[in-house]
Amino acid sequence: MTPHRTEVPTRILVVDDDPICRDMLAAVLEDMDFEVETATNGEDAYHRVCHGDFRIVISDWQMPGMSGIELCRKLRARRLGEYVYIILLSSLHGKENLVKGLQAGADDFLCKPFEPVELHVRLNTARRIVSLENRDLIVFSLAKLAESRDCETGAHLERMREYSKLLAEELSKMPKFRQEIDNDFIRAIFLTSPLHDIGKVGIPDNILLKPGRLTPDEFEIMKQHVTIGCKTLDAAYTACPSAEYLRLARDIAATHHEKFDGSGYPNGLAGIDIPLCGRIVALADVYDALTTKRVYKDAMSHEQARRIIIESRGSHFDPDVVDAFLRREEDFQAIRRNLDDNHAFCSSTPPIVTPANNPAGILAATPVS
Ligand SMILES: [Fe+2]
Ligand SMILES: [Fe+2]
Repeated sequence: MTPHRTEVPTRILVVDDDPICRDMLAAVLEDMDFEVETATNGEDAYHRVCHGDFRIVISDWQMPGMSGIELCRKLRARRLGEYVYIILLSSLHGKENLVKGLQAGADDFLCKPFEPVELHVRLNTARRIVSLENRDLIVFSLAKLAESRDCETGAHLERMREYSKLLAEELSKMPKFRQEIDNDFIRAIFLTSPLHDIGKVGIPDNILLKPGRLTPDEFEIMKQHVTIGCKTLDAAYTACPSAEYLRLARDIAATHHEKFDGSGYPNGLAGIDIPLCGRIVALADVYDALTTKRVYKDAMSHEQARRIIIESRGSHFDPDVVDAFLRREEDFQAIRRNLDDNHAFCSSTPPIVTPANNPAGILAATPVS
């Protein structure tokens, strides 16, 4: 996944069981300066879209096994994936077939034989539509904007989404999570985990930026960042229920301070009542908070953070998530080394130095206590 992709997509997956048609189409597209990969059947195409980075698919209609129509239906049934523009190719003519293709989720329909110029024009439309959905960039920009009020500047969001992705990848290898964590889930947690603290925009300055320790009443207000974030993202999800990633974003915002033993907030959820995404992000967020230097504190070593995380296995953190962390701890260290605060998304913008750079603000924000 290329998280900051802004260019118009140029990679196309061509799906056709007929090698002559497939190679001809690939050659025509390459002449048009597209980057082309090919698949010989619907199953292979589906697998590639889920694991690759294709936003445009041109598929033959009739293929042995999974047909083009079935491929459309299957791609549209993905709940968390990015939008994929699908053009169906067929020698079938007639309105009936057109309607059938569109009903299955195809965006466009091209009858064989077709002129390259017609294909080119239609691909321009495809690129225009796909580039309208610069979802990843918008989501991350929103997260960075919200974070700019807080003291968690630098590359915190960049690192914690990598940690979240790593944990999800590792957990997906376990049979008990295989159903829930597919490739789309992994991409979506990478995309939405930076929104975990978006609700902090609703916390008054005198609390968010307070230079001293928060009083219990102030801490209660600080805790509301969770419900504010949840409500905001829930409203977005309600307005656009097909954008399933917003549900994941909402659940992360709502539950990243819950603890496995039920002692967290806001709802004191315990165990698997806490959505898996919240259990994953909780560890990723805390690990980064512990191992990062802030104005008011030095960074803990990986070993110190590791010890705290192990001690919190089953209390703060889901034991499976802790075990996944331990299996991938070298990768955690590599991310930490490679993504220091000079790698922040907005590194040209210096972090806002405010009284927020203080222990109390962070203590309230960081679920380690
Ligand atoms: Fe938070
Ligand atoms: Fe955070």
